[in-house]
Amino acid sequence: MVYQIYPRSFADSESGSEEGVGDLEGIRRHLDHLVWLGVDAVWLSPFYRSPMADFGYDVSDHCDVDPLFGSLADFDRLLDEAHERGLRVIVDWVANHTSDRHPWFLDARSSPDSEHRHWYVWRDPAPGGGPPNNWRAAFGADVPAWTFDEASGQYYLHLFLPEQPDLDWNHPPVVEAMHGVLRFWLDRGVDGFRADAVHAIGKDRALLDDPPDSAGTPRSSTNDDPATHGLLRDVRRLVDGYPGERVVVGEVYLLDTAKVAAYYGQGDELHLAFNFPPLYTPWQVDAWRRRLDEVEGHLAPAGWPTWVLSNHDNPRPRTRYGSEARARAAAVLLLGLRGTPFLYAGDELGLEDAVVEPARALDPGGRDGCRAPLPWTAAPGHGWHAEPWLPWPPHSRQRNVETLRNDRTSILHLYRRLLAARRASPALVQGDMEILPTGDGVLAWRRSDAADVRVVAVNFTGDERSLTLPGGRWTVEVSSDGLEEGRRWLDRLGPDAAVVLRPS
Ligand code: NOJ
Repeated sequence: MVYQIYPRSFADSESGSEEGVGDLEGIRRHLDHLVWLGVDAVWLSPFYRSPMADFGYDVSDHCDVDPLFGSLADFDRLLDEAHERGLRVIVDWVANHTSDRHPWFLDARSSPDSEHRHWYVWRDPAPGGGPPNNWRAAFGADVPAWTFDEASGQYYLHLFLPEQPDLDWNHPPVVEAMHGVLRFWLDRGVDGFRADAVHAIGKDRALLDDPPDSAGTPRSSTNDDPATHGLLRDVRRLVDGYPGERVVVGEVYLLDTAKVAAYYGQGDELHLAFNFPPLYTPWQVDAWRRRLDEVEGHLAPAGWPTWVLSNHDNPRPRTRYGSEARARAAAVLLLGLRGTPFLYAGDELGLEDAVVEPARALDPGGRDGCRAPLPWTAAPGHGWHAEPWLPWPPHSRQRNVETLRNDRTSILHLYRRLLAARRASPALVQGDMEILPTGDGVLAWRRSDAADVRVVAVNFTGDERSLTLPGGRWTVEVSSDGLEEGRRWLDRLGPDAAVVLRPS
């Protein structure tokens, strides 16, 4: 299980340069909590030097820590102490674009003849004037993916904010430089990378217009150019060339599982790819059955799946699904499926998104709510040294690490029991998955690895459901409501409940 930390919002210490913003030392101080929870690996969202137009996804130096988050020495210490505890550390690799304040872009913008001009994508205006093509940027309705540069009379491409110009991966020095970034962090000992928007690095050289049916859709969610695959094979070779086990998990933001599958290549591109359709799937049994079928049918033949219900870009599951009971059932679902689960920090507390008044809104993409700070303690201040950069999530006096750790019936303890059950069961970690016939509103599947077998069942309805399983007697190993654990399975699944069962 990979636990995603958004450093600004996880925990602060006195060592970062800005009060109320989380930092690397804050993360280090909570490593024992992650071990207690049962985390295997952490993924750190960007902590690199950045003007913070996109809160770190606009990088101005890929090989240094922004003073906001501490220093490289803080990173090394965090990495060492994580490794001492058996935790792996994955860092973000923002490969598609840089900040517009990155020295490369400053130079590129300074003159069409500059050394770095062709590191980015520059084009003359369209024949009648205006942007070179109809591509749209992310964040904001109908924003062109091009910004005009008065000085040179050309446009530059940005699939995200104008402050995030796209690198031109057709230009070999860019490939070399971004490989250098990978080596820099691998040499420091990281266990791998989460590759940001990596499906977007290869671009159609002709930069043709998007067809009319996708013309209003941000290009960042449709860009699927064959050139990316060759680039990823090179990345894979580089990373696999390092000793030990390292992983590249790619953010392939194409909302089509069959397309995502292609990014595993022939086992020679991404080790893992995020598959986002499940994240956008409502809490409905038929919709989820389709998702499971798609993953088993399209993705599993290509590579080992991932499961993501949450991250720093989307409302949290507790907010989306509407109740804690469903958030708990979703925990069982996430940790019971075949593949590597990713858990966004705070979901284990059942956090809801913060309500962020327009006057306090910061993110141009409207994603502040899920980025609210983690409350560590019950007392006001919740364990932070200063008022955090965003408002607290709702009910922080009850919903904080301290209170929930002291309550064995809490969702936090549910996550801990699930992770322990998973770790102890080869079937849950790596076993096959077979969907079982069930009645209305219930989804159940069997996981098996040689003699080890588990059944996972989820009730998507608000009513009790019966579920009779073939093959002898079963014992409730973990239940989302904490009831009946260790007891014989009585063929009944409570409202909005989910269970992991083992043979008796
Ligand atoms: C995906 C990241 O998850 C998101 O936070 C960011 O804004 C974009 N990529 C651009 O880097």
